[in-house]
Amino acid sequence: MDKLIIEGGRKLHGEIRISGAKNAALPLIAATLLIPGWHVIHNVPDLRDTRTILVLLESLGAIWKREGETLSINTETLNNLEASYDLVKTMRASILVLGPLLARMGKARVSLPGGCAIGARPIDFHLQALTKMGADLDLEDGYVSAFTDDGLSGATICFDVPSVTGTENILMAAVLAKGVTVIKNAAREPEVGNLVDMLISMGADIAGRDTDQLTIHGAKSLMPAEVTTIPDRIETGTYLIAVGAAGGEVTLKNCNPAHLPALLEKLRATGLIIKESVNSIFVSKPSIVHSIDIKTQPYPGFPTDLQAQLMALMSLSNGLSVITETIFENRFMHVAELKRMGAEIQINGNSAIVKGVKQLRGAQVMATDLRASASLVVAGLAAKGVTEISRIYHLERGYENMVEKLQALGARVSKEKD
Ligand code: UD1
Repeated sequence: MDKLIIEGGRKLHGEIRISGAKNAALPLIAATLLIPGWHVIHNVPDLRDTRTILVLLESLGAIWKREGETLSINTETLNNLEASYDLVKTMRASILVLGPLLARMGKARVSLPGGCAIGARPIDFHLQALTKMGADLDLEDGYVSAFTDDGLSGATICFDVPSVTGTENILMAAVLAKGVTVIKNAAREPEVGNLVDMLISMGADIAGRDTDQLTIHGAKSLMPAEVTTIPDRIETGTYLIAVGAAGGEVTLKNCNPAHLPALLEKLRATGLIIKESVNSIFVSKPSIVHSIDIKTQPYPGFPTDLQAQLMALMSLSNGLSVITETIFENRFMHVAELKRMGAEIQINGNSAIVKGVKQLRGAQVMATDLRASASLVVAGLAAKGVTEISRIYHLERGYENMVEKLQALGARVSKEKD
């Protein structure tokens, strides 16, 4: 297993390009299962998770090729309708193949994702919605088997809370269902909008993009699509926060500031100087970082996927910060590791109370999940001394060329075998 070595305390300077969004690319790739023919997806990041979903599609019989950042995928030759435990266990988003397979083939068997480091993360919303659309579901041996005799039918689905992959799975199921599907309390994340755009370019009839109610008129057939993956707003946010912690002046290119309303407002409140254009953001750090409170919320609120990184920044603020996690119940695993680096944090239920310190110290720490790992990188860049982060395969799931990008900004970062 590889570890990351960071010699902290160097300011970041320069310009880097933000990659395509992992959480957008995964549903776009899954959507190619809806219809045979060559689909083309641009700006796809080359990451552990995007490779995993391509292996999953291959195991179903799909073929694909990558040229640079462009993927071409053809699912004409599907010959297996089962997503195995081995693939699903490494990436929960594998559940995204259930909706499109069921819609096109009338049948699918997908391993249940099982426990996840950041909480129970059930898929009951996905299953209840598909049942309402006429699927027969069986849960056995850790798999969900789904069938429809006569295709899926439109239905009105109301999620208890907005679920991102739940909305995406049901959207993909609904575009080939008979009649009208209405998804109420739908997730409004930009990644959902990217999928809506792809489905519309396939010929689907979807109204309500970017709102909490999506109305889908099912189509008899669709056609292959060409689509561009949106920039990764979580990668963008992570680098902005890293500059806040380590200092310096950085320009992020090929990003979309409009997808980060809550983060940009909060970072400005800390005193960071942020200048936006349509597709780039300049950030620079003043001498003092003011403490702020945040509460994670579904989009457009503050993203749970940036909570850990923001906590690393607040560890270096000038006061007390209360960080409340409302989306996932066990998403404070970075706290113990940040404390090893000298952070002063107390957990009280679903809130973390962070007292800013003058300086973090390098330490040996362990990555526990994707975004927790990113918070340790942020802390390590700012800390005095050397930080060693083990188990960085978590980071490789979601950050394309992180080491190279940080090196381009002048950070002393390297990867070593453990
Ligand atoms: C997606 C993102 C993940 C992000 C999360 C929240 C992808 C691949 N992953 O995950 O990075 O952290 O959104 O923004 O896009 N829930 C249920 N039952 C369900 C589904 C969800 O109770 O069937 C609950 C979850 O436990 C959680 C909330 O709904 O409390 C939102 O989760 P959801 O939006 O579904 O997360 P994911 O789609 O898994």
